[in-house]
This record gives sequence, C-alpha cells and structure tokens, in this order.
Amino acid sequence: MDRLEIKGGKPLSGEISISGAKNSALPILTASLLTKDSIFLKNVPRLNDVSTTVNLLRTMGVEITFHDGITIEINSSKATRPFAAYDLVKTMRASILVLGPLLGKFGFAEVSLPGGCAIGARPVNLHVESLKKMGANIEISGGYIKATAKKLKGAEIIFDTPSVTATENIIMAATLAEGETIIKNAAQEPEIEDLIIFLKKMGARIEGACSDTIKIKGVKELKGANHLILSDRIEAGTYLVAAAITGGHLRLNKISPKNLSSVLLKLEESGAFIVTSSDYVEIDMRGKRPKATNIFTGPYPGFPTDMQAQFCALNAIADGVSEITETVFENRFMHTQELQRMGANLNIDGRKVTISGADSLNGANVMATDLRASASLVLAALAAKGRTIVDRIYHIDRGYESIEEKLSQVGADIKRLHP
Ligand code: UD1
Repeated sequence: MDRLEIKGGKPLSGEISISGAKNSALPILTASLLTKDSIFLKNVPRLNDVSTTVNLLRTMGVEITFHDGITIEINSSKATRPFAAYDLVKTMRASILVLGPLLGKFGFAEVSLPGGCAIGARPVNLHVESLKKMGANIEISGGYIKATAKKLKGAEIIFDTPSVTATENIIMAATLAEGETIIKNAAQEPEIEDLIIFLKKMGARIEGACSDTIKIKGVKELKGANHLILSDRIEAGTYLVAAAITGGHLRLNKISPKNLSSVLLKLEESGAFIVTSSDYVEIDMRGKRPKATNIFTGPYPGFPTDMQAQFCALNAIADGVSEITETVFENRFMHTQELQRMGANLNIDGRKVTISGADSLNGANVMATDLRASASLVLAALAAKGRTIVDRIYHIDRGYESIEEKLSQVGADIKRLHP
C-alpha cells in the first residue's frame, strides 16, 4: 500500500491548478446512461472514484474512450446489463448514482448497496422511497436493491433531509418519467447545478437549479452533449487550508470562488487575507499563526462537512479554543484520534469536538481512515515539526488528483512511498 512521507514546517508559496470536481464528474458520468448518443466530458479529474465509475459503466456495456488525459467520450447505446455488482461498488458510495438513470432508461436495475467512507450509517432510504413514489417496485435482498418500473411517473417528493446524491438520482430518473416531478427540500450543492446544466444540454426540462425546489418535466428521450466539469471546491478548500496552516501564500487557479463562500469567510476569520476574481482565489497568511474559529457544518450554502476535518487540523495549531460541530454525518471525527497522535489537544462530545490550539504539532506515523480525514492528516503534517508518514492513502487517491505533485510544486516536502 502506498504511503505519503511529509516533512513539515515549510510555508507553501506559489500557484495550484484545481481539477474537475469529483462530486460533479460522478453523477454526470452516470447520467450518460440516459442517452444512446455520445457524451463528451472535459476536465474529468484523474481519481480512483472516477476509474471505479468508468469500470462500473463498462460492466454494463457502456463504451468509454479516453481521448486525452481529461476528455472522455461515453456511449451507452450498447449498454444491456443494468447491474452494479458489490465487488465494484463497495469502495464508493456514489455508485448508488446509477440507480436513477438505470431505472429511468431500462425500467430495471439491480444495484449493490453502496460502501464508501465509513463516516456514518449513510442510509439510502430517500433514494428508495422517492423512486417508489414514482411508481417503482423495489425489493432489497442479499445486499442488493432490485428495482423495476415499466415507466416511472412524475411525483411530488419531499426529502426529510437534503441529500445530495438522492437529489441527483431523482432528478436523473425524472428526466425520462411520464409527467412532472417536484423535489422539495432538495439539496442545493453547486455539483447538482452542474448536473442540471449538463442534463439540460441533453434536452431535459428542469427548473429550480440552486434552489430547494426542483421541477423536472419528463421528456421522451435525451440526446448527446459536451460538457466541461465544474472545478472542485473541496480540493480548492483543502489547498487554502494548506496555505493557512503553514503561514503561506497560494493562488488557486481554475476555481469559482463563489462556491467557496462559507469556507473563505472562515479562513478570513482565522486571519487569512483573501483575494478573489471570477476564476481564481488567492490566500495570504503573511506568516501568521491562524486564530481559532468555530465551525458548524450544514448542507450548502452552509459550511461543507467535506471541509470539517481540514478545519480540525487548522484549529489544532490555531491560537485559542474552537468548537467544531458536525451536523451532517454522525461519525465523522475519525481523524481526531490520529491528530491527537501528532499532539493535537481535543475532546469529542457527541457531534462536537472542542480543540485547544497547540503551539505546534509533531510528525508521527498516522493512518488515513476516510477521504477527507486523510486530507486533514496531510495538512497537519505540512505544519508539524519533523517527519510524518500517512498510511492507507488509497483514501486520498479517491478524491485528490496528484496531491503530492501539486503540494511539492508549491514548496512542500512530500513524497509517495511505494511498498
Ligand atoms: C454527498 C457527497 C459527499 C458529501 C455529502 C454531504 C457525492 C458523491 N458525495 O454524499 O462528498 O460529504 O454529500 O455534503 O456527492 N441521508 C439519509 N437517507 C438517504 C440519504 C442520505 O438519511 O437516503 C442522510 C445522510 O445520512 C446524511 C445526510 O442525509 O446525514 C446527507 O447525506 P447525503 O447528502 O446523501 O450524502 P451523499 O449524497 O452520500
């Protein structure tokens, strides 16, 4: 298993180009099942979750060609096998995203219950109950969701909680359903807007992107489209914290700062100087130690749960005491134990962690436990005295493209160790 070796204590300085968003690429890849025409996607990030999705679609008979590193052509005209096997999907919860398109297009789907990050129970009841409301027959047995529907019908759906992938699944299923589907209390993440823009290029009729009420009028068929994947706000947020935690100065290119508002506000609160334009963001800590800042995660436009672990690392060396409250997932503090091994002073009480900023952290051998937890360990290691080895970095490779190259290019002492 690959590991990362990081020797900390160097302020980062320079420019990083942000990759396409994982959480945008995955639903858009699965949406390609909805048409027989070719789809061309640019700015697709080179990530393990993307490879898993590509492999999954290929097992269904979808033809996928990589024209250059980041452009993919997808053709689903020969897809005949609406089946997603456990072996392929166990590492990636987002595999549930094939359920809506398969049911909408083929009238049948058999999809393994997903795995992915172990950050909580992560049920799929909203996906299943909503599709049932649209007329699907669904049985869950042997670890598989078996769904059939001759023709899905429009329905009014009200989510108990705004789920990102459930919103995406239902939007995709509804594009080819009979009549109108209305999703209330829908999630509003920018990646959902990106999916809606893409589906509209395919001929879907959707209103309400970026709002909590989305209306989809079913059409008979969808056509091919070209699309540039949105840039990754969580990757960008992680590198902004890398600058803040090392007292550095970075410019991140190819990013929409408007999608990062809640993160930028918190970085300013921690003492960072931020400059934004339409497609870049610059952060300068001017060598100062960050100030402690309280975080309360929530659905977009709230503070992203996917940035919570990174702010735990930042607060671990900040001046003062902070409280971080995780409201989205019930078990998302696994990074805290590893941060403690590096000298962080923290105390967990249910969904809240209280952190007393330490003057410094020390390098240690630590273990990545999930995708964003791994990122927090890399950040802590960049600020720590001495050498840190981060083990099990396959979690990082699921969601960060070439993390060691991007960080070394701005001055970090980081290298990948092969077994
Ligand atoms: C997506 C993101 C993930 C991010 C998360 C929250 C993708 C591929 N992944 O995950 O990076 O951390 O949003 O921003 O886009 N819930 C239910 N029942 C369901 C579905 C969800 O109760 O059927 C609950 C979850 O347990 C959780 C909350 O809804 O408490 C939000 O989860 P959800 O938005 O579904 O997360 P994902 O879509 O899996």
